[in-house]
Amino acid sequence: MKTKIIIGGIPISEDFRVMPGAGIAKNLVDVKRLCENEDIQILLFGSITLLSRTGNPGNIFFVDPFGNYTVNSVGMTNSGLGGYQHTLKEIVNYVHSKGKKIVVSIASVDHVKDYIPLLALVAQSGADGCELNYGCPNVLDGGKQHAIASFNPPVMQTSLSLMKEKFGMFMIPIWVKLSLLVIVPNALRIVNHGDTTIDVKLDVELMNKVSKVINDFDFIKAVVCTNTLGSIRVQDEGGKPVLGPNPDNPNLSGGLAGLIIHKYSVEQARLMRHLLNKEIDIIGAGGVINGQTTDDFMKVGTVGVQVVSTYWVKNNPVIFSEIGADYYENYTK
Ligand SMILES: Cc1cc2nc3c(=O)[nH]c(=O)nc-3n(C[C@H](O)[C@H](O)[C@H](O)COP(=O)(O)O)c2cc1C
Repeated sequence: MKTKIIIGGIPISEDFRVMPGAGIAKNLVDVKRLCENEDIQILLFGSITLLSRTGNPGNIFFVDPFGNYTVNSVGMTNSGLGGYQHTLKEIVNYVHSKGKKIVVSIASVDHVKDYIPLLALVAQSGADGCELNYGCPNVLDGGKQHAIASFNPPVMQTSLSLMKEKFGMFMIPIWVKLSLLVIVPNALRIVNHGDTTIDVKLDVELMNKVSKVINDFDFIKAVVCTNTLGSIRVQDEGGKPVLGPNPDNPNLSGGLAGLIIHKYSVEQARLMRHLLNKEIDIIGAGGVINGQTTDDFMKVGTVGVQVVSTYWVKNNPVIFSEIGADYYENYTK
């Protein structure tokens, strides 16, 4: 008899742990494309926000020609609560009809109370879980950067307490997605073409505080490490920023992802594994490009990985199978 595999409170039927992360699927067309891949067991949808978002002007996504990173200021384009009111159930049903599971990522750009109607929508849609995007660093409105919950444990505490109060025993499995928890997160950092590393330090004290908050809520079934590294300006050979123009983002900065953040995301996953209750799964995200980078996360105790940049660079759902095949063939036998 097959043993039941559970990832972040969600049972899956095949042992395939490479998932499309948040930032890929925003509508039924995207979801159908991901579902063409037979290996994928759990896919992320969203992030979705209370109000619809049209995305930022100018160049919003850049792929390093040497393959070391991506930077984006996509700004969480999505249809908002109103737009998904009728369509989310259809999307969830479609994913289920393909024998897969769906976790919907929700994000608040302004107030912690935004999470309540979004979580209600996700629960009513029949989705298998909800990922709280506590790490989105890329949302600028009117040039103002909103508070990032990951860097503010009391904000996380308030938001999670509110959810507990409103949903109580009817809570679906919750995944918490964290920023890359670095010291001085809002400092503008410059990355040039050809750079393979970025010099940041992880904030272990903050990780301690964040994990204490998370450990208090037994409805949290997984923690995802990590989102992108925010406030990054990538410049070409002539010193020209690759993102923008965008009058709301005078620094022309965005969120850095891909191989360049991988070692930090893995280290954060490792530290969080030590700090979090063992019942809470850790899921890796950040620079997963092949079997080896998947294994880097699995070796520090994650139960699976999410992939985003590699999908956008190759623009093909087959990459999840290729990464999985490399991992299972070469790192698990
Ligand atoms: C184009 C793009 C859009 C993204 N949008 C979201 C999002 O809406 N919500 C979210 O939680 N993370 C979002 N992310 C972050 C990814 O889910 C992931 O955490 C991060 O990019 C690290 O993984 P990677 O190196 O495989 O890209 C986005 C990333 C990219 C590159």
